[in-house]
Amino acid sequence: MVHVKFLGHSCFTLEHGPHRVLIDPFLTGNPVCPVKADSLHPTAILVSHGHGDHLGDAIPISKRTGALIISCYEVVSFCLGQGATGHGMHIGGGHDFDFGRVKLTPAWHGSAIEFDGQSAYGGTPCGFVIRIGGKTIYHSGDTGLFGDMELIGRLNKIDLACLPIGDNYTMGPDDAVEAVRMLKPARVVPMHYNTFDLIRQDPEAFGKRLDHLAECSVLKPGESLEL
Ligand code: NI
Ligand code: MN
Repeated sequence: MVHVKFLGHSCFTLEHGPHRVLIDPFLTGNPVCPVKADSLHPTAILVSHGHGDHLGDAIPISKRTGALIISCYEVVSFCLGQGATGHGMHIGGGHDFDFGRVKLTPAWHGSAIEFDGQSAYGGTPCGFVIRIGGKTIYHSGDTGLFGDMELIGRLNKIDLACLPIGDNYTMGPDDAVEAVRMLKPARVVPMHYNTFDLIRQDPEAFGKRLDHLAECSVLKPGESLEL
């Protein structure tokens, strides 16, 4: 059993046995996040790209807990330079960790890291296919729709897909429905919406459109499900 908790925006925790994987920890400054960064004790942190609403609190949490930051090489290099612990990868590459396997998938997006009024190169943004506790979870990161989602769906029997529906910065609901057609996951949790006015969406209406395609679980920040 894998315990999946949504913490708002694109942030999730995956728990299986002693393993606690935190994804895109935008906690501090996230108006919908129900927890404080200090209350989390992850053993690994997956970061899809360098934008502040995804890298978020990853560095201070890693420094406090020793959790390994897993991301593309450039984001990890930046984190290592700030005193965090990390493991750099790149798109198409997979690696076995103590909690399971992670493979980086493409994402059509940007990835600059902004800090102290400066901007660092964040490499290529990514998504993740995560194998944990016998389950397969696809977290797409921030991305527009792309045709290779069909390939991701063909190569993986996806138990859960976490997909953005906010529009403007990522796929909106129309394209997210197309993504579900290609990925063929058993279950979908929408993300990256209603954190700010610019990405306001109706997740229940989106869920109704997935009828016959996949089960849609709309989670409020703080809610969870078992896989
Ligand atoms: Ni972004
Ligand atoms: Mn974002």
